[in-house]
Amino acid sequence: MGKTGQTERKKQSEPEDSLKDIISLCKRRGFIYQGSEIYGGLANTFDYGPYGVELLRNLKNEWWHTFVSSRSDIVGLDSSIFLHPKAWEASGHLDSFHDPLSDCKHCQSRIRADQYLKERQDIDTESMSLSQIQAVFQEKGDSFHCPQCGKKGTFTKPRQFNLMFSTKMGSVLGENDMEVYLRPETAQGIFLNFRNISSTCRVNVPFGVAQIGKSFRNEITARQFIFRTREFEQMEIEFFCKPGTQKKWFDYWVDSCTKWLDSLGVCKKNLRLRSHEKKELSFYSENTVDIEYNFPFGWGELWGIASRTDYDLRQHSSHSKKNLNYFDAEKGENWLPYVIEPALGLNRLFLCILADSYHVENPETKEKRTVLKLASHLSPVKAGIFPLQKKDGLLEIAEEVHKKLYRSFAVELDSSGSIGKRYYRQDELGTPYCITVDYQTKEDQTITLRKRDSMSQKRIPIEEIHSYLLKKLQPSIC
Ligand code: GAP
Repeated sequence: MGKTGQTERKKQSEPEDSLKDIISLCKRRGFIYQGSEIYGGLANTFDYGPYGVELLRNLKNEWWHTFVSSRSDIVGLDSSIFLHPKAWEASGHLDSFHDPLSDCKHCQSRIRADQYLKERQDIDTESMSLSQIQAVFQEKGDSFHCPQCGKKGTFTKPRQFNLMFSTKMGSVLGENDMEVYLRPETAQGIFLNFRNISSTCRVNVPFGVAQIGKSFRNEITARQFIFRTREFEQMEIEFFCKPGTQKKWFDYWVDSCTKWLDSLGVCKKNLRLRSHEKKELSFYSENTVDIEYNFPFGWGELWGIASRTDYDLRQHSSHSKKNLNYFDAEKGENWLPYVIEPALGLNRLFLCILADSYHVENPETKEKRTVLKLASHLSPVKAGIFPLQKKDGLLEIAEEVHKKLYRSFAVELDSSGSIGKRYYRQDELGTPYCITVDYQTKEDQTITLRKRDSMSQKRIPIEEIHSYLLKKLQPSIC
C-alpha cells in the first residue's frame, strides 16, 4: 500500500472516477480490452490482454500452489463444463437458481428488481422474498424510472428467471438433441467425481478437491467492469469433513482464505467479513461468510465460504441411485461427508488486486505518477531492461542482459521513447525493477537498477544482477 502522504487513493471521494481510471489503465497498458471491440463491443464481455493474462496466471498459480501443491490433503480436478442435465435437477439449480427480473414495457430493457430497490430506493432487499419485492413494485412502481429509457411506471411485475445458460447437444440438429446447461459453478463437477476420487486416490476424510475453471450465469449486470460478468472464472474447493466437525473446518477456512489475501498484499482495511442472515442463505447452505472487498464502487463479495452440509452428495446420491457414502475404515462406519466450500471468483480477485495496488502519487503536480504497487510475485513483468540509446553498442549490451535473465524471470526489453516514458510505462504495469544500460556500463560493466516504489537508483555489476533479482523477488510459482 501507499507509503507516502502524497499517495492518493481517490476511492472514497470519487469512486466512479477511480474505477474509470483503472479501466482506462487496463486498456492503455494491455491488461483488459472490451470484448468484440471492433464490432462495437458485446456488452459485459472482456478480453484479457498480454499483461492481464500474466496477472491472471500468477493469481491462479499462487492459489493452486498454496491450496493444492503445497498440501497433502487437497487434490485437483478439471471437470467438464457440461454436466448431465440431471445433475442440475439434483443440485437444485434448475428449481432454485434464479433472480427476480422485471422488464421495461417501453424499451424492453431488463432490470434485477431486488438490485433496483436496493440501489435506487435504498431498500434492504437481502432477505426479501419474491412476493415482498413484487408488493413494493405494485405499491410504488408507478414512480419508478427505467434506468435505460428514463420512462416512469413502465416495469412489469418482477418474475423469477433461471440464471443458467442452456444450449442443445446432439449429433443431428433438431433430432434427439438434449437440452444442456453451461455450468453456473465449478462445484458440481467436484461432487459428481467424489466417488471416483475417493476410490482411486489415496485420500481420507478430511480432504478437499480444488478446481479452477469457467462458469456462466445469465445475470443482469450493473456496469461494474469485471465485477459481475456472464462468463467468469472460479477457483473453488470442496472440503469434505466428518459430520460434526464442520464448524471447526468452517472457521479454519475463513481464517486460511483471509491469510492468503494478506500474502498477496491486499490491504487489511479494505477487507471485511460478512455473515449471511438466515433468510439470505443460498438454498444449499447452513452458514455462509463472505469476505468482502471495498471496491471503488463500495463493498462487494469477493470470496464466499459456505457450509454446504451433505446436501449435494445426498442429492446426487438419491438422483443417480449411486452410493456416495465414505467408508471410515478406522470406525468401520459409512457416512456422507459434510462439505465446507471456499469459492473465489478469479476476475473479482483481479479487480481487487488492481484497485488495491492502484496509486496516483503527487496527483496535481508535474511529478504525477501512476503506479501499480503489486506484490512482486504477482507482477506481469519482473524487470524492464532499457538501453539509454539504441546506438553505440548499448542495445547489444541490453540484449545480453536480457539473455542472462529471461529464462528465470519475466523480463521485457524496451528501447523506444525517452527513459522517463519507459519508467512510466513499467510503473503502470506494476514492474518492481527497471534496469538501464548507459554509457558508464561500457566502462565498468555496471547497470542502473531503479526500484518501482521508492524510485531509488543504484549501480550494480551486470554479473550480479541475476542473483540480486533472485534474492529480492518473491518466489514466482510457475
Ligand atoms: N459454488 C458456490 C458459488 O458459486 P457464489 O457465491 O455464487 O458461490 C462464488 O460464487 C464466487 O464466484 C463469488 O464470491 C464471486 O467472487 C464469483 N462470482 C460469482 N458470480 C460471478 C459473476 N457473475 N461474475 C464474476 N464473478 C462471480
